Amino acid sequence: MKVVTIVGARPQFVKASVVSKALRSAGHTEILVNTGQHYDDNMAKIFFEEMHIPKADFNLGVGSGSHAVQTAASMIGIEKIIEEVKPDFVIVYGDTNATLAGALAVKKLNLKLVHIEAGLRSFNRDMPEEINRIVTDVLSDQLFVPTQVAADNLKKEGIERGVYVVGDVMVDALQTYSRIAEQKSTILKQFGIKTDKYLLLTIHRPSNSDVNRLRPILEQVSKAKIPVIFPVHPRVKSKVADLTQDISGSIILIDPVGYLDMMVLEKHAKVILTDSGGIQKEAYCHQRYCLTIRSETEWVETVNDGWNYLVGDELDRIPELIAHFPTPIRWLNHYGDGHAANRIVSILSEIYGNQAE
Ligand code: UD1
Ligand code: UDP
Repeated sequence: MKVVTIVGARPQFVKASVVSKALRSAGHTEILVNTGQHYDDNMAKIFFEEMHIPKADFNLGVGSGSHAVQTAASMIGIEKIIEEVKPDFVIVYGDTNATLAGALAVKKLNLKLVHIEAGLRSFNRDMPEEINRIVTDVLSDQLFVPTQVAADNLKKEGIERGVYVVGDVMVDALQTYSRIAEQKSTILKQFGIKTDKYLLLTIHRPSNSDVNRLRPILEQVSKAKIPVIFPVHPRVKSKVADLTQDISGSIILIDPVGYLDMMVLEKHAKVILTDSGGIQKEAYCHQRYCLTIRSETEWVETVNDGWNYLVGDELDRIPELIAHFPTPIRWLNHYGDGHAANRIVSILSEIYGNQAE
């Protein structure tokens, strides 16, 4: 099979790290296209290096900009490449502008589209990602979903053909790199922090990026009086730097970290506070408490099982929830066995022919 894979943002590098390898070790030809939406070394290059992701064959250098600018520039570059390469199908991941651009460009050329991590819904159309997911799912020929809940979401929208429940490729990555991370990462030592004696914070959603929202979040988190490790996403960097000058010293601002350091920070944190999708799920997989600074989540299993609490607008409850996180109800293996990537490659091989190029 000849496959074009499209990535562009940090979570997609993590997902591709396992699927690209599975495709290539099964003898298939993959042309990897990075739209370049994330471009700082610690948002992009570090993942390719640490996770040995194959070098992108094309980097479109799209960079930052409005949604239309990012999506349109990505579409133009992707269209050119797939017309030239003529792949059997194109893979897109998740819900970023790279996903949407890939989906639109591919289907306008009447080619086959494969969506990995399909079927997730927040049911909040104010989120740009929700728009990207809905459009991509409507257009996809094969939809690989992590859970039955995601398959049910698609069914309710009338999408039943081509849907496969395979587990979550992020679990594959987590299982592959967790032990390596424990061996290689020195991040705990670097900050003199120990298991259960610090919090991990990440914020990058536009809805949390305004200073009027960021300020109370940081004020409430800092009340916990234990160190807060905060790898700062570039979207909020300048705002956070200004705000933390007036807020207590327990918040330790650091640059975004690579996947190995992140695995270790997640595994040992007393509580993870985040608005990230992937990090909520990783917290659950590591059996760590999570406070999600949003009003809804796509990863409903984490909330139903009591490991994830949606803080929404109850920011003033953060200190109490950190001190006394309600005891979880259960932990189930919702997100799969760590073999989702191989399952996806086998199914695609059956559909598109098993001939290695
Ligand atoms: C994007 C995705 C989001 C995903 C997130 C993962 C969309 C619509 N959003 O959001 O779904 O959860 O990635 O992190 O695709 N910037 C830099 N350097 C970089 C990257 C970004 O400085 O390498 C800054 C720029 O100022 C940019 C801002 O961060 O304008 C936001 O970046 P962007 O890629 O537009 O959106 P994210 O918030 O990263
Ligand atoms: N991540 C990382 N370093 C960081 C922040 C996140 O390695 O400083 C990893 C995280 O462990 C997860 C992925 O990046 O695997 C999630 O990306 P992000 O939170 O940016 O996006 P989302 O999942 O919300 O789309």
